[in-house]
Amino acid sequence: MEKETEKEKNIALIGFMGVGKSAVSRRLKALLSMEELETDAMVVAAEGMEIGDIFAKYGEEYFRRRERDVIQSLENRRGVIISCGGGVVMREENVENLKKSSRIVLLTAEPETILERVKHSQERPLLNGHMNVEYIGELMEKRREKYEAAADLIVSTDKKTVNQVCEELIQRLRETD
Ligand code: S3P
Repeated sequence: MEKETEKEKNIALIGFMGVGKSAVSRRLKALLSMEELETDAMVVAAEGMEIGDIFAKYGEEYFRRRERDVIQSLENRRGVIISCGGGVVMREENVENLKKSSRIVLLTAEPETILERVKHSQERPLLNGHMNVEYIGELMEKRREKYEAAADLIVSTDKKTVNQVCEELIQRLRETD
């Protein structure tokens, strides 16, 4: 079998809640004419429940298992943008699966930027009751090593528009083709 080129792989977007994965992936879909999938939306569709309700009813571990199932189900997909929930790369198994099919792009932002973007959101159970820079910064630090280890490319989103992030991302991916 011919070796898969980088170009044929998916683009998986990873990073902390509120870095802009959904907005960037929607814009990339238009710019690159690629299909786009969100792991959160796939879990919600499979369970017929919102993320907050899944956490409340069955707990985080159950959600993580469903998230893993979704990542596994994408094994044979190519040429798609996969917008990953913020905790996807905490499981090594998910990183290994994504690496086989995707170039992994880590989006980053400072805790202050994240807070601005998520402070009115009710949809992130891990931040309920913890909507402050200190908590966000601590959780981000705990996760940093795993995010960075999984990433093929890191793009900061602070003080950038979605278009600017996409342009930079596309340019830098082209350099690695
Ligand atoms: C989570 C991030 C969320 C969602 C869930 C858990 C996390 O997705 O999967 O609330 O552990 O970081 P977003 O990153 O799209 O907010």
